[in-house]
Amino acid sequence: MSFDLVLFGGTGDLAWRKLMPALFQAFRHGTLPPGGRIIGVARDDLSDAQYRELIQSRFDKVELAKRPSAEEFARFAALLHYVRMDLSKPEDYGRLATLLKDANADTVVMYVATAPTLFTTVCEQLAVAGLNTPHTRIVLEKPLGHDLASNRTINETVLRGFAERQVFRIDHYLGKPSVQNLFALRFGNALFEPLWRRENIANIQITIAEELGVEKRGAFYDSTGALRDMVQNHALQLLCAIGMEPPINAHADAIRDEKLKVLRSLKPWTPQSLSQHVIRGQYSAGTIDGVAVPAYRDEPGVNAESNTETFVALRTEIANWRWAGVPFYIRTGKRLADRDADIVVNFRPAPHAIFKTPAGAANQLVINLQPKDGLELHLLAQGADNRRQQQSLAPVQLDLDFDKRFGAERVGAYERLLLDVIDGRLNLFVRSDEQEEAWRWVEPIIDVWKADGEGLRSYAAGTWGPSASSAMIARDGYCWSEEC
Ligand code: BG6
Repeated sequence: MSFDLVLFGGTGDLAWRKLMPALFQAFRHGTLPPGGRIIGVARDDLSDAQYRELIQSRFDKVELAKRPSAEEFARFAALLHYVRMDLSKPEDYGRLATLLKDANADTVVMYVATAPTLFTTVCEQLAVAGLNTPHTRIVLEKPLGHDLASNRTINETVLRGFAERQVFRIDHYLGKPSVQNLFALRFGNALFEPLWRRENIANIQITIAEELGVEKRGAFYDSTGALRDMVQNHALQLLCAIGMEPPINAHADAIRDEKLKVLRSLKPWTPQSLSQHVIRGQYSAGTIDGVAVPAYRDEPGVNAESNTETFVALRTEIANWRWAGVPFYIRTGKRLADRDADIVVNFRPAPHAIFKTPAGAANQLVINLQPKDGLELHLLAQGADNRRQQQSLAPVQLDLDFDKRFGAERVGAYERLLLDVIDGRLNLFVRSDEQEEAWRWVEPIIDVWKADGEGLRSYAAGTWGPSASSAMIARDGYCWSEEC
């Protein structure tokens, strides 16, 4: 099967950091279908040869194991081509059309890795130039809009030129091996399903913590913030994966229908829940791994009086028969104490205690997403001190480390997702109605923050966020996993 992959933003940050390395890995693993071309598109005046040199220089900086040899890069470079285009000029699309027509590939992938402001223009112009043929697929990177209305405008524009089955909305969290394992845990094993409900589960905590700050993306981040950057997409997708009903099969729409139902069941916000159950914070100067780091407001590209949040913690519920009354906590932030993404499922304690157990002890299932990919099952067992008469139990842990079991060098998120686009598999991509529902749910938070300049709390870089986040969860009688 031949393919053309057109990379709008071919010299941009995403192509540089994620897409080219992922495409090279797929090439190296032999999974990239033969007979393909990768066509970088940008405004710079470059020849194919210059574009290849530019991409080669990108690999000089990668770790040795992932660096191509000269001979290997030469074979990969043969796939690379370049077209100079000003995406706002309709006449420039003709040049791309000619190049694509020459090859007449079985599949054409249009990957729009540009500034979000160009998404609608690119989609419209592709349609005008007749480049929206039935064998074309379009890939859109997040963020898709900054609120429900702008998201709808993008979706409507895209869907005027392309059918929904041609649109691949990326949420790279869905491509992570750990998220595949979450689906496998829930829907490939019968063990947990009977326990997976309100009768047995006290609360669920989703944490995506980063040590990194905003790096070179200060200007983008300052107009975005943690709610739009992480909660509206990655965290809500994880919440869907943990809370959804078993789909009837593994087809894309069966999975997406169930995720949509979760999003529709999220408890609507009230003025009271908005004020008590949503915490936003911004980091001040602090220390990460012993190194002093600046405050968010001192980062390059960030407004010195910025009120953008770099941390969000919130509590919600999925209002349906399975989950009614079970709190789901979401927490994400930059410059936190650790790089750590996990989902902690806290089971209810045994209904009647005949043994001595540590206060509050109960079973826990931890799904580790990052930096390691694995499962921990926390049980209570007779500890080492079993000579005593009275029987007392101690917590023990069963560990399943997928990195050790399967090797840490599994297919990365972007590699997996790019291959899925080329093969036309939509399972791990977000449908427009899911995305709109997620925006609909976060919008009241955006609105209340806009109206209230007071609620932003400061936290020192290198901590777990503002103390209000711990206070919020403590009001329910629980604590974040690292605090208990
Ligand atoms: C991106 C966000 O979507 O995800 C970034 O825009 C964030 O701000 C990144 O750092 C986190 O991804 P990962 O895979 O490193 O957890």
